[in-house]
Amino acid sequence: MPSQQLISTVETIKQARPENLMARHFDGDYYLSLNPVLRQRLQKIIASGVENPDSSMGAYAMNPQDYDQFAPLFDAMIHDFHGIPSSVEIKQIHDWDTTRTDCDLAAIDPDLADVSMRVRVARNVSTFPLPGAMDKQQRIDFENLAASAFNELARDPAFGGKYLSITPGSPHEIGAGEYDRRVKAHQMFKDMSADRYLNVAGISGDWPYGRGMYVSNDEEFLVWVGEEDHLRIMAMQRGGNLGELFERLNTGLEKLTLYLPPFATSPKYGAITSCPTNLGAGMRASLHMKLPKLTGNGSDLTRLKQEASHLGVAVRGAGGEHSDAGEDGLVDISPSARLGVTEMQIMQKLYEAAAALWKLETGDKRG
Ligand code: ARG
Repeated sequence: MPSQQLISTVETIKQARPENLMARHFDGDYYLSLNPVLRQRLQKIIASGVENPDSSMGAYAMNPQDYDQFAPLFDAMIHDFHGIPSSVEIKQIHDWDTTRTDCDLAAIDPDLADVSMRVRVARNVSTFPLPGAMDKQQRIDFENLAASAFNELARDPAFGGKYLSITPGSPHEIGAGEYDRRVKAHQMFKDMSADRYLNVAGISGDWPYGRGMYVSNDEEFLVWVGEEDHLRIMAMQRGGNLGELFERLNTGLEKLTLYLPPFATSPKYGAITSCPTNLGAGMRASLHMKLPKLTGNGSDLTRLKQEASHLGVAVRGAGGEHSDAGEDGLVDISPSARLGVTEMQIMQKLYEAAAALWKLETGDKRG
């Protein structure tokens, strides 16, 4: 797209869709200050938000270096999304020490001793482009690299398991039936080629080549390969002890790190991810709570979303991104901030928000 046309298109989105953070922070003069090669690269980065004006973020990095290269745009979006005041510098500190804080939900109410808890981190290796810029061969090569790492990991009894691939012809290939079953069980990721945000960004390209999932024998430790990031490493358990959950993830992550090329990270942005929403700890920690009162039996999330946002957590239906709540009011709550907060702060935030929302829900019941 010619530069002036791009600038005026983004300007129109900025007026019509102020929630699109790419459009909100896009500066035509900055764009024009770039040389033609960099302009081309930036166009690809923002394409998803330009073609999908309803985006909330509206940009995906294509290479780990993009955040530094295009910091004037990315940093403004990052400050805004992650709630970092513009006077505060962006920086990421990691802390996985679960021993200093006790986050057992059973202490809030025995009713919360058996909820579905999950935590995942996004990781990309520094030796490949990010998924939006990978070609088919690179996707396959990366998957093979990951499969050999899983081979090593599987030797550890605590993390034993198997790799399942959806790459046609892969030695680890599973059939459509098993794929569907794993998607329904919320283990495997959905068909990415149906996602218009990912399509425009090129992230779902060559689907389903290079995609798969490692699953531990107890099915509580999973690693996605080739979704929005090279790897999404996750722990999921029923229970109430968030500390235990985080510990499992960290142990698995550390093991896996031994068998993979170095991850793309920076002291400023933390874990480098495709989407700026996931930078930093690169973490999404969530739990499922039944909040029928606060959601009008799942029919209306408006009030809950409001309460939750004051608590620094986002709410969505338990069925995944863009889903509604069921009739039992089962929702997924998750701390919004991921950059500039440590892993343990995220865990604590989740715990505190769960306590506060539970108080509202049960208080409403009594009133
Ligand atoms: N690109 C989409 C948008 O800007 C999704 C952003 C957040 N979700 C995600 N899976 N990264 O609205």
